[in-house]
Amino acid sequence: MHNPAVSVTGAQAERIAEERARYVAPGMTTPRLVVAQAEGARITDVDGRSFVDFAGGIGCQNTGHRHPAVVDAIKEQSDRFLHQCFMVGTYEPYIDVCRRLAELSPCAGSEQRSLLVNTGAEAVENAVKVARHATGRPAVIALEGSFHGRTLLTMTLTSKVKPYKLGFGPFAPEVYRMPNAYCYRCPFGLRYPSCDVACADYLEEFFIGNVAPEQTAAVIVEPIQGEGGFVTPPPEYFAKLQAICKKYGIVLVIDEVQTAMGRTGKLFAIEHWGIAPDVVTTAKSLAGGLPLSAVTGRAELMDGPHVGGLGGTFGGNPVACSAALAVLEVLLGEGFLARAEALGAEMWRRFEALQRRFEIIGDVRGKGPMLAIELVRDRVKKTPAAAETKKLVKLCYEKGLVLIACGNHGNVIRTLMPLVITDEQLDRGFAILESALQELSPER
Ligand SMILES: Cc1ncc(COP(=O)(O)O)c(C=O)c1O
Repeated sequence: MHNPAVSVTGAQAERIAEERARYVAPGMTTPRLVVAQAEGARITDVDGRSFVDFAGGIGCQNTGHRHPAVVDAIKEQSDRFLHQCFMVGTYEPYIDVCRRLAELSPCAGSEQRSLLVNTGAEAVENAVKVARHATGRPAVIALEGSFHGRTLLTMTLTSKVKPYKLGFGPFAPEVYRMPNAYCYRCPFGLRYPSCDVACADYLEEFFIGNVAPEQTAAVIVEPIQGEGGFVTPPPEYFAKLQAICKKYGIVLVIDEVQTAMGRTGKLFAIEHWGIAPDVVTTAKSLAGGLPLSAVTGRAELMDGPHVGGLGGTFGGNPVACSAALAVLEVLLGEGFLARAEALGAEMWRRFEALQRRFEIIGDVRGKGPMLAIELVRDRVKKTPAAAETKKLVKLCYEKGLVLIACGNHGNVIRTLMPLVITDEQLDRGFAILESALQELSPER
């Protein structure tokens, strides 16, 4: 059976796409790309076509595909043992990752402890367990536009209905949702800075009509909303939100699954806002592409759950932990984050130049090299250009650039390229994007 959603050019890719359609559950988005090999920021497909990678496997390749130090660490650990289950036999790589996270954590408190699990969703689930246990309260507040995963609780915390939630209810109880800090489409109809960041102050109002603060265990927020469209709150936002959480003893969980590990030019994105949260979740680039995630937080919170209350068979796999130790070393190595920051500044300059030329680019936003352009049909009404965005992604793929979209309307192009991308690859990627924009949209 041929899947009509798959449009591929090469013979090998065509054959594999047909096999996929026959044997793989079709509920997962079907990309055109069929990968044979990847290195740094370059992907080669099964027909030998070369692509510049602006997606990084959705932000999991900040240190680049197959970073040599990460591959060596994986090989070395593989020669010793592949699995133990941390609840059957203690092993050092797990403890070493937790120690490094404690040393590097942006969280408040002098002592930090971590739990290692497998996926972003599992980290968020466990952060909520820790917050509920610590407070004895049931409710969790998430934001419009948020994405926290696909398990029952994290799907409930996730905002966008289609495709993430449609047909999968009933949802987990005691999840509440308040407006986000989406300055380009302010839910309060205000403008920054005269708004005085009313979206953060609104939490007090939210308690009146939605859920009592005395019943609220946690507020969970992404520093930059990943799947939600790289929505980037103004500088004052998190300090205001944190002050309200503190006032009521609510745990502030910062979901850094997509934003951490150098993605924004800093190890943790929340550093841009200068606050120290209670708990932080990480995953994606943490182990260079192997499944590993972490919940890190103040010891008083993390020490709460009883023995056996936390865990999992595969959580903190030794090979993934060894990879993570290598990833952290690379990220903190000389010049890596500085180069990421410089990359972000260069990309920002290029996106703004494209915005000046192409009417369709309504907004440029983000931090460091975690940037996005929001595409609109006209700049006054800001009508989301969803079909055009889809076409742009397809055109880029055909020209040799792997790019992914996001946003509630699917009209945002985001950059999650490996941060080791070369100048030449960056030039090629932007040249392809520019040429695709030329095909798509009139110049101003
Ligand atoms: C902010 C955030 N939280 C949680 C998740 C879920 O992670 P996973 O797909 O590894 O379960 C994601 C995935 O994109 C994410 O971006």
